[in-house]
Amino acid sequence: MSQERTTDPSKIDFRKKFELGGKVIVITGACGLIGRAFCEAAAQFGAHIVLADIPAAKPEEAAKALEEKHGRKMLGFGLDVAKKNEVIALKAAVEAEFNRCDGLVNGHQNKTKSFFEPFEEYGEDNWDAVVETNLKGTFLTCQIIGTWMTALGGGSIVNIPSTYSVVAPNQNLYKGTSLGCPAAYSASKGGVDALSRYLASYWANKKVRVNMITPHGVWNNHEQQFEDNFARFSPMERLSYNHEVASALIYLLSDASSYVTGDNLLVEGGWTVW
Ligand SMILES: NC(=O)c1ccc[n+]([C@@H]2O[C@H](COP(=O)([O-])OP(=O)(O)OC[C@H]3O[C@@H](n4cnc5c(N)ncnc54)[C@H](O)[C@@H]3O)[C@@H](O)[C@H]2O)c1
Repeated sequence: MSQERTTDPSKIDFRKKFELGGKVIVITGACGLIGRAFCEAAAQFGAHIVLADIPAAKPEEAAKALEEKHGRKMLGFGLDVAKKNEVIALKAAVEAEFNRCDGLVNGHQNKTKSFFEPFEEYGEDNWDAVVETNLKGTFLTCQIIGTWMTALGGGSIVNIPSTYSVVAPNQNLYKGTSLGCPAAYSASKGGVDALSRYLASYWANKKVRVNMITPHGVWNNHEQQFEDNFARFSPMERLSYNHEVASALIYLLSDASSYVTGDNLLVEGGWTVW
């Protein structure tokens, strides 16, 4: 359907383009703030979701709840995305359960204990932990699950960089708050952005599309000062909500974006437009 050769749009069922019925979508960081919205949204559009997250986040429990709500098989899988043998085990579990994979969404991130350390004192271990999870984890899932999708005949990968791989953080945003944005985070996300563009070109002729969603300032009971600062710097004068990010995912995972690859869909309320 996605490549129907016609100039007559009346022949096209545009609603159907957004359907994910029967598709199998692997989502990492599935138990996180945005991951949870990704899972629910893709499930509402008909997909089987593989919820992948660290064991402490209890992805099996989240999968069971999603399965009961939607009456469709879901799979929970505990892993560290930065460990190759664990990503291989994830792929094997998806193959055993569904024998197919249509989409991969990399929604994980590592917020280490000392994540907000100042740059001048940022520990090597801290840097490594952030970059290893955020960037190497995305490399490994793309390598193992993306390669499998090329063999299956196609699919859609959606990676999540950050506003802070597109522009530098405005340090005034954090004035009077306990928050910040470490360089390790920006650098790791810059790597995710470059890797995604590389793979979009590398796998275009294998029918695996590779795109990105850049969320920004997703509300999570932030301290009031941060919310006030954010409103001052944002064209839309507010934080976003996780469900507003998830709508973009349906577009990129589905046939609706059949001619889109290498794109970074900014869901950032115009933050980088001025
Ligand atoms: N929240 C925002 O405002 C915002 C803005 C821009 C980009 N992002 C990006 O969006 C994505 C989701 O953000 P979020 O706010 O939902 O984050 P979150 O911290 O709420 O969720 C991240 C999830 O990743 C999981 N995780 C951590 N280490 C892992 C590992 N080694 N293996 C597997 N899973 C692991 C965590 O357990 C958690 O469930 C992240 O990549 C983040 O960098 C978020």
